[in-house]
Amino acid sequence: MLEDKDRVFTNLYGLHDWALEGARARGAWEGTKAILEKGRDWIINEVKASGLRGRGGAGFPTGLKWSFMPKQSDGRAHYLVVNADESEPGTCKDREIMRHDPHLLVEGCLIAGFAMGTNTCFIYIRGEFVRERERLQAAVDQAYAANLIGKNNVHGFPFDIIVHHGAGAYICGEETALLESLEGKKGQPRLKPPFPANVGLYGCPTTVNNVESIAVVPDILRRGAAWFAGIGSFPAAPRCRSSRRTNANICSWISTDAASSNPPSARPP
Ligand SMILES: Cc1cc2nc3c(=O)[nH]c(=O)nc-3n(C[C@H](O)[C@H](O)[C@H](O)COP(=O)(O)O)c2cc1C
Repeated sequence: MLEDKDRVFTNLYGLHDWALEGARARGAWEGTKAILEKGRDWIINEVKASGLRGRGGAGFPTGLKWSFMPKQSDGRAHYLVVNADESEPGTCKDREIMRHDPHLLVEGCLIAGFAMGTNTCFIYIRGEFVRERERLQAAVDQAYAANLIGKNNVHGFPFDIIVHHGAGAYICGEETALLESLEGKKGQPRLKPPFPANVGLYGCPTTVNNVESIAVVPDILRRGAAWFAGIGSFPAAPRCRSSRRTNANICSWISTDAASSNPPSARPP
């Protein structure tokens, strides 16, 4: 059972201050430098141990995905791309994070970027999300102004975040179509392999993660992998064992169950 103290996003209804001061009062940006000082391997191992699975739909283990990025650069840049396209009908979880708790996403980008040796992050946001883009950009600007990100930031790891506004195309939520679109091309999926961790944005090693996958990371690292791993499970559907941790995923279970005659455990993962 999810207890109130286990909530990660405590401003989803927008009742409190979304901006830097309010976010800090709720715990964002607390101990971020100490987290980075524990090193890339520690962060990736902790995310693996937490059992966090990607929230973009496929549920791929996030820490494992991060470990696919090359440890050393071969001269090419490394990129983190955050998928904020959220065009699936009935889905509205990332939108609330960007509207009401955007600093958790910004902080998560810095930590994830550090763990994968990426100094540049692109957040690709759905074309129809105009107000969300404005709010997210305001949070990024606040983080720059407070020197939390940027070239010579207080965390000692140069990091830029670029918010890119999509044109409003469902297919651009698929990660390789998103990369094509980000490069200024028609948003059409690429053949895989090569996978983005080897050849992604502009031909460089890239990891694409969902908004929620990234925004939840700072809290996991502050509270510990065991805390996150201990919350909720679906024993009958192990690949979805983290599903209970968010309202949005419960919604998706309800809607898919309503459309299907099979119970969740009877359907292939
Ligand atoms: C047609 C299609 C649309 C998708 N739309 C989204 C989306 O809007 N947001 C998202 O995060 N992932 C979406 N995905 C999944 C992404 O391709 C990718 O797996 C995901 O962003 C990876 O992030 P995660 O590992 O954090 O889940 C979509 C996939 C397909 C095939």
